Amino acid sequence: MDKLIVQGGAPLLGEIRVSGAKNAALPLMCAALLTREQLTLSNVPHLKDVSTMLRLLAQLGVEVSLDDRLGLSLQAERLSEPLAPYDLVKTMRASILVLGPLVARCGEARVSLPGGCAIGSRPVDLHIKGLEALGAEISVEQGYIAARAKRLEGARVVMDLVTVTATENLMMAACLAQGTTVLENAAREPEVVDLAQCLLAMGARIGGAGTDVITIEGVAQLRGATHRIMPDRIETGTFLAAAAATGGRVTLQGTDAGILDAVLEKLRETGAELQTGSGTISLAMRGRPKGVNVRTAPYPGFPTDMQAQLMALDAIAEGTAVITETIFENRFMHALEMQRLGADIEISGNAAIVRGVGKLQGATVMATDLRASASLVIAGLAAEGETTVDRIYHLDRGYECIEEKLAQLGARIRRVH
Ligand code: EPZ
Repeated sequence: MDKLIVQGGAPLLGEIRVSGAKNAALPLMCAALLTREQLTLSNVPHLKDVSTMLRLLAQLGVEVSLDDRLGLSLQAERLSEPLAPYDLVKTMRASILVLGPLVARCGEARVSLPGGCAIGSRPVDLHIKGLEALGAEISVEQGYIAARAKRLEGARVVMDLVTVTATENLMMAACLAQGTTVLENAAREPEVVDLAQCLLAMGARIGGAGTDVITIEGVAQLRGATHRIMPDRIETGTFLAAAAATGGRVTLQGTDAGILDAVLEKLRETGAELQTGSGTISLAMRGRPKGVNVRTAPYPGFPTDMQAQLMALDAIAEGTAVITETIFENRFMHALEMQRLGADIEISGNAAIVRGVGKLQGATVMATDLRASASLVIAGLAAEGETTVDRIYHLDRGYECIEEKLAQLGARIRRVH
C-alpha cells in the first residue's frame, strides 16, 4: 500500500500543467461504444480510473491503442458480450456510463450495480428510470442491471435530481434513439458540455448542453471523430487551494478559468490574489487566509469535489467557517482525519463548523476517498512537521502524478511503496 510522506511548511512556488479532466475522459471513452468507427481522444489524463475504463471497454470488444503523446484511439467495430462485470464495476462507479451506450448500440446490456462508496450510497435509480422512459426494459437481478430495447424511443425525461453521469448516460443513449429526447433538470457541468461537443463531432444532433434542458434528436448511426479532452477543473482547484494554504505563488497552465468561477470566487474571498490569462490561472497568497463559508451545489455552484480541499484551507484560516455539503450524504470523512492534525472541526448533520487554527501538526492520516486524500495532502503541506498519508491509491484514481507536480512546486513530498 503506497503512502505519501509530506514535510510541511514550504510555500508552493512555480508553474505546472493541468491534465485532462478525469470526469470528462470517462464518459468520452464510453462514447466510442456508439459507433463502429474510430474515436480519437487527446489530452487523456494518465489515471487509474482511465486504465480501469480501458480494461472494461477492451473486455466489451473495443480495440484500444494509446500513443506516446497521451493520445487514445478507441474502435468498437465489433462488440463482444455487452457485460460489465462486478469485479470491474465495483472498483469504479463510472463504469455505469457504458449502460446507455450499450443499450443504444447493441439493444441489450448487463451492467453490475456499482454499489455504494465511501461518500454515500450513490444509487443509480435515475439512470434506470431514464432508460426505461426511452423504452428500455430493465430488471435488476443478482446485483446486475439487465437492460434490453429493440430500438430506444425518444421521450421527455424529467430528472428528479441533478445527476451528472445519469445526464451523460441518457444523452449518449438518446443519440441513437428513434425521435427526439428532451432531458429536463439536466446537469450543467462542463464535462457534460465536453461530451456533447464530442458527440456533435460524431454526427449527433444535440442542443442545450450546459443548460438544464438538453434536446437530442436521434440519428441512425454516429461516425468516428477526434476530440481534445477539456482541462481538469478539480485538479486546477486542488492545486490553487494547496498554493493558498501554503502561502505560495503558482501559475497553472493548460487550464480554463471559465469552468470554475465559484471556486475562484471563494479563493478570492480567502484573500488570494488571482490572475487569469488564456489557458492560465495564477494565484498568490500573502499572509494567512481568511476562513470562508462554502455550500456545495450542482454546477455552476461550488463543486462538491472541491469541498474537502476548501476545508483544509479553512482549517488553518483566520476565523470560523461553515461548510455545507448538499450533494452527498457522507462526505466529511476527511474532517475526522484532519482533527488528527489538530484541526478544530465540528460536524453537525451536513454542516462542518471549522475554526481556523494557527498551525496544524503533522501526523499519520488515512485517505478514504479521492478528494479527501487530496485535502489531507494539502493539510500536510500546510502543517508543521511530517505527515504520512496512507491508502493513497484513492489519490492515484484521480490525480496524475500528484507528488511529481507538487515537488515541481517545491513541496517536500515523497511516495513510499
Ligand atoms: C459525478 O458523479 C462525478 N463523477 C463525481 O466526482 C461528482 O462528485 C458528482 O458527479 C457530483 O458532481 C463523474 O463524473 C465520473 P451525481 P455522479 O449522479 O454522476 C444522487 C470525483 O471525485 N443520485 O451527480 O455519480 C447521488 O446519490 C467524483 O471525481 C441519485 O439519487 O454523481 C448524489 O446525491 C466523486 N440517483 C446526487 O444525485 C441516481 O441515479 C448527485 O450525484 C444518480 C444520482
